[in-house]
Amino acid sequence: MIGIIGAMDMEVADITAAMDISEKVESGNLTFYKGKIKGKDAVAAKCGPGKVNAAICAQKMISEFGADKIINTGVAGGLDKSLKVCDTVVADKVCQHDMDTTFLGDPAGFISGLGKVYMECDPALVDILVKTAPEGRAFVGTVATGDIFVSDNALSGKIAKDFGACACEMEGGAIGQVCDIAGVPFAVLRTISDNGDDGAGMSFEQFARVAAAQAAAHILRAFEFID
Ligand code: ADE
Repeated sequence: MIGIIGAMDMEVADITAAMDISEKVESGNLTFYKGKIKGKDAVAAKCGPGKVNAAICAQKMISEFGADKIINTGVAGGLDKSLKVCDTVVADKVCQHDMDTTFLGDPAGFISGLGKVYMECDPALVDILVKTAPEGRAFVGTVATGDIFVSDNALSGKIAKDFGACACEMEGGAIGQVCDIAGVPFAVLRTISDNGDDGAGMSFEQFARVAAAQAAAHILRAFEFID
C-alpha cells in the first residue's frame, strides 16, 4: 500500500482524480482516499500544513491503512541559488530546521528519541522520482521542514547554511520522523513555488498551483515504477 500525502487541496486533487477510488474513510479530522493508482494499491490524503498535521496523517496511514511506503508531494521554497520556480527537488534526506535544543548542547535540528538530525529517504524511491522527473532532471538534496512559511532573506539563508538544505517546506521532516520510527520507506518530492525570500509570498500566490500540479503529475508517472 503506497501512501501519498500533500498538505493542501491543490497538492492532492490531481492524485485523487487519477485514483480508482474504492473507499473514502474519515479518521480523526482527516479524509483518506483508498483505491488503486495505475493498478497499485494506494491511499491518499490532504494532511493540512505543518509538522503535527503531517505526522498524524503519516502515522494513520501506517497504522490504520497499512502503508508500507509513503511519498510526500507538494511545493517548496527553493534555497539553493540555482533553483528556480517549477524546478523539481527530490529529497535524499530531510530535517526539521525549527527543532532547537542547542541550548542543551545538541546540534541544531537534533531530534530527541531518534538521536539524529537527518532522516534518510528511501534510495529506491529517490531513484524512481529522479528518473521520472520532468526532462529527467531533478535537484537531489536536503529538504528542511519547519512550522513556518519562510519568506525572509535572512531566515532562508540561515536554513540553507545550517542544514545544507536546498529547499524548505512544512511537512516532509515530520513524515520522515514518523516513517523512520516505524521503519517505513519514504520520499519527499517538491516542485519549487518560491525562493523562501522576501518575495516568497507573492511568488507562492502566483506559482503554487502550477507547481503543485507538476508535482502531482510527476507522482503519477512514478507510480509505473513503484512496487
Ligand atoms: N512551501 C512552499 N514555499 C514555502 C516556503 N517558502 N516556506 C515553507 N513552506 C513552503
